[in-house]
Parts: sequence; C-alpha cells; structure tokens
Amino acid sequence: MVTSSKISSTFAAMLMKIRSIVSNLFTSVLMLVSGSRAQQTLFTTRTSPPKTHSKEEKEISDSQLTTPSSVNYHFTRQCNYKCGFCFHTAKTSFVLPIDEAKKGLLLLKQAGMEKINFSGGEPFVHQKGDFLGLLVKYCKDELKLASVSIVSNGSLIKETWFQKYGDYLDILAISCDSFDEETNKAIGRSQGRKSHLDNLHKVRNWCREYKVAFKINSVVNTFNVEEDMSERISVLNPVRWKVFQCLLIEGENAGENSLREAEKFVISDQQFQDFLDRHKSIKCLVPESNQKMKDSYLILDEYMRFLDCREGRKDPSKSILDVGVEEAIKFSGFDEKMFRIRGGKYVWSKAEMKLEW
Ligand SMILES: C[S@@+](CC[C@H](N)C(=O)[O-])C[C@H]1O[C@@H](n2cnc3c(N)ncnc32)[C@H](O)[C@@H]1O
Ligand code: SF4
Repeated sequence: MVTSSKISSTFAAMLMKIRSIVSNLFTSVLMLVSGSRAQQTLFTTRTSPPKTHSKEEKEISDSQLTTPSSVNYHFTRQCNYKCGFCFHTAKTSFVLPIDEAKKGLLLLKQAGMEKINFSGGEPFVHQKGDFLGLLVKYCKDELKLASVSIVSNGSLIKETWFQKYGDYLDILAISCDSFDEETNKAIGRSQGRKSHLDNLHKVRNWCREYKVAFKINSVVNTFNVEEDMSERISVLNPVRWKVFQCLLIEGENAGENSLREAEKFVISDQQFQDFLDRHKSIKCLVPESNQKMKDSYLILDEYMRFLDCREGRKDPSKSILDVGVEEAIKFSGFDEKMFRIRGGKYVWSKAEMKLEW
C-alpha cells in the first residue's frame, strides 16, 4: 500500500526535477540572448557542441550550486574614504579576532574554497594592514589557496606591506572611478588633500616590483559616465579592468537606515552600455551590469555571515562559525550559474598568469 508520505516524497522529487529543468532552460536562454564577453569566453572554452551539457554545467548541477569556490570576505566595514555610492558601509566597527577569522577560512577551504578576496570597508585600515597581511599569508602559505586577492582604495598601502606579505598575494585590485582628481573628490573617493591618483600609480609600481598582478575596479555613475578612461587604463595596463554599473542596496546606500544615499549616482542600462562601447578597445575590460553583479558574489560579512542580495538588500545568514558552511550557504542567495556567466572563474593564480614583470 502506498503511504501518504511516499506520495509526498515522490511529488517533492518531481518538483525538484521540474525546477532543475526550468533553471537549466533559463540559463541557456540567458546565454543565448546576451553577447557579453564573459559569456563568449564560456562558449569559446566549450569542447562539446552547445546542445549537450558541458563538463562545467554538469559540475554545477552535481554540486547542487553550493560550492564556495570563490569567496569575498568583507572583514571590516571601517573606511577612510566617503564614496557617496558605497554599498558596504560602516554600520558596525566589529572585526573578528584573527584566530576566529582563520578558523572560518579553514572551514571554507574544507568546503571547497579555491579563491579568497579580502574586501571591506577598507581592508588596510584595521591594524594598519597587518590583520589583512596575516590572513593573506595564512590563506596562501597554510591553506594553499590557488588565489588570494584584495580590493582596496589604495590610499593606506605602504611599501613595507609588500615586503612582508607581497609573496603571498596573487592579485591586488585598486578602485579608481576617474582620472580627474576633482571627480574623485566629488564622488568622495579621497581623504583630505591626498591624491587618489598618485596612490594608484605608486601601488601599480609596487605591484610590478613585488610581482603581484594589478587590477583596477571602476564604478560607472553619474559623475564619470561621460569620461573616456581608455588612454590612462592602457598605460596602467592592468590584468583586468572590472567596470561596475552603480548598484543600489537597501539599508546600505538607499532607503531607511542607510548611511549613504546613492540615488543621484545611478545611471541607466543604456548609459552603462554607452560607457562600455566607448571603451571597447580595452581588451581586459570585464563589464558588470547590476543584473550580473547582484547575486553572483558569495559575500561574507564581518561576522562571517553570508549576505543574500536577492531582495535588493543584504540579508544575513547565520555565521559559518556557528552553523558551518553547508548550512549558512543555503541562505547566501548565491547564483553559481550567474557567477560562471559573468566570468567569475578565470585564471586567478599569479603562478598561472603570463605576467610581464
Ligand atoms: C565596497 S568596496 C571595498 C573595498 C575598497 N574600500 C574599495 O573601495 O576598493 C569593494 C568594491 O565595490 C565597489 N562599489 C562600492 N559601491 C558600489 C556600488 N554602489 N555599485 C557598484 N560597485 C560598488 C567599489 O568601488 C570597490 O571596487
Ligand atoms: S567604496 Fe569607498 S567608501 Fe566604500 S569601502 Fe570602498 S573606499 Fe570606502
């Protein structure tokens, strides 16, 4: 005799199957209609015909979309800059003790992490960069991660930091939204009278000297949307130039209880596309529209909680230190397919990059 629990489990299995088919169909349609570079990369690296499932796609469904292969750890929210559009603001001053942070990183490694990116806030603020340096060293030296990277505004980095920790770092991304100092100031990407651009160039040279791959991040917004940065980017010659469309996150830079009001920075999809078209000669440009950016990052906050951005705000999971990675990641809102589509998986270890030092 068929019990009601058997019927409901069969029904649940059917539902799961239908969900998986619909999800695969959706991804295929997305990949067909969009012509982004990241998607082209995905197509050109295929070895089998497009109709069958690629090895990559199979790997995604096998792992049920929950492997934390690439993680962004925003261990501090403190910052010395005041960018008006910032979507990760100084809502707390909390930073985990270093042993707790290392414990969490070990858990992530055991769950499949291959790449860690340290971000913030400004990651060089806490303990003048030593907290960050020790975590970078731990991730490369002890956890043996393929890739260890940092995103920074560049203003607090000293040469001594490279001397102590440069060997353990694969990629350093410096954020720069304009090559006009006045525009940087108007955005808030500055501190006092210090020149953001002088720092950018200084750090670029140290990256060369200490053999760290240099990357640039830019946020396209109403203040720089008409700028042509091609020439200056070509001279700096980063391994990657990430170009983001300014994103609003409720509770961070929009809505009630937010520390920033970024509405005046927001640009349309067409304006973003025009900016990309103007810079099409830059081969290392990697565009990230709002749609691509929103759910395609695994974000850990200062308590090591995953942040789910699906509802346009940052909803925290429980901490991986309390419930483990497998449980917490269920509430991360992470879309691993979109991660692949945006080109999230690339050659990310400096040992494998063919860099001209
Ligand atoms: C939150 S910041 C933290 C790291 C560091 N303080 C910096 O500015 O590079 C990480 C990255 O997010 C970008 N970002 C900040 N607010 C953004 C927004 N509203 N939309 C898109 N990107 C944003 C920054 O420009 C930076 O490249
Ligand atoms: S985007 Fe600007 S304000 Fe926000 S953390 Fe980075 S440097 Fe600080």
